[in-house]
Amino acid sequence: MQKRSMHDISKPLVIGNWKMNPETLREAHLLFSHVKKQSGALKMQAAVAPPFVFLGALARERGGKYLALAAQNVHTERSGTFTGEVSARMLKSIGVTYVIIGHSERRAMGETDETVAAKVKVVCKTNMTPVLCIGESERDAAGGYLGTVEHQLKSGLSALTKKQVASTIIAYEPVWAISGGSGKGKTATPTDVHEMKLFIQKVLADSYGRKTAEAITIIYGGSVNASNARSLLEEGMVDGFLTGGASLKAKEFNTILKIAHAH
Ligand code: PGA
Repeated sequence: MQKRSMHDISKPLVIGNWKMNPETLREAHLLFSHVKKQSGALKMQAAVAPPFVFLGALARERGGKYLALAAQNVHTERSGTFTGEVSARMLKSIGVTYVIIGHSERRAMGETDETVAAKVKVVCKTNMTPVLCIGESERDAAGGYLGTVEHQLKSGLSALTKKQVASTIIAYEPVWAISGGSGKGKTATPTDVHEMKLFIQKVLADSYGRKTAEAITIIYGGSVNASNARSLLEEGMVDGFLTGGASLKAKEFNTILKIAHAH
């Protein structure tokens, strides 16, 4: 059976992006233990991406066999005079498995395509799995948004070998569908998501061949919740989710895990 890093590819991958939440270590422990319990009960791989400051403590607590840790960002350099930054080897050394790169909220803070590509590269080189976020800000009737997604995808993977490309995770997150700050809170339909998955696979197949394109995990993010998760998996046909707001509510996130498990 095909494996994606520590992952069984036959089940969808659900990653909770906690963003700058929760406010205290105590709450982080509580949320983590609820999710750990559920993923353990389902015997299903899942991951959460807490803020850096909580990663070490949660790594010590350990997610067991089923709950992995993801980071929300990384620096491109190994070490040195970069105040406030965290390197890939640091993350690897505490047991981080996935690193979210190029999230639209970080791109809005000035992260460039070049930096995103360099981060994706350093994460692969350090034997972790990059979760490359791509997605348009708006949809235009002329289909210009497809060009945006194609550009972000190609440039994000541009520093990788074909073998490294095959082990990446692509998170399609249309900015207009992300809840809270940067998004407008609309939801992408399963049809929108399915069409974009096919488009991403076509771009990947043109660059790297069909076999590599099919090996790549393509997940969706943007207002995923317990009510739309099933149809996004069934009709959207994505390989999992990057979940923001809903990952902060243990009950709702655990329901999404159950839906993914039943898929
Ligand atoms: P959301 O965020 O689920 O709250 O829309 C998703 C994300 O930004 O990763």
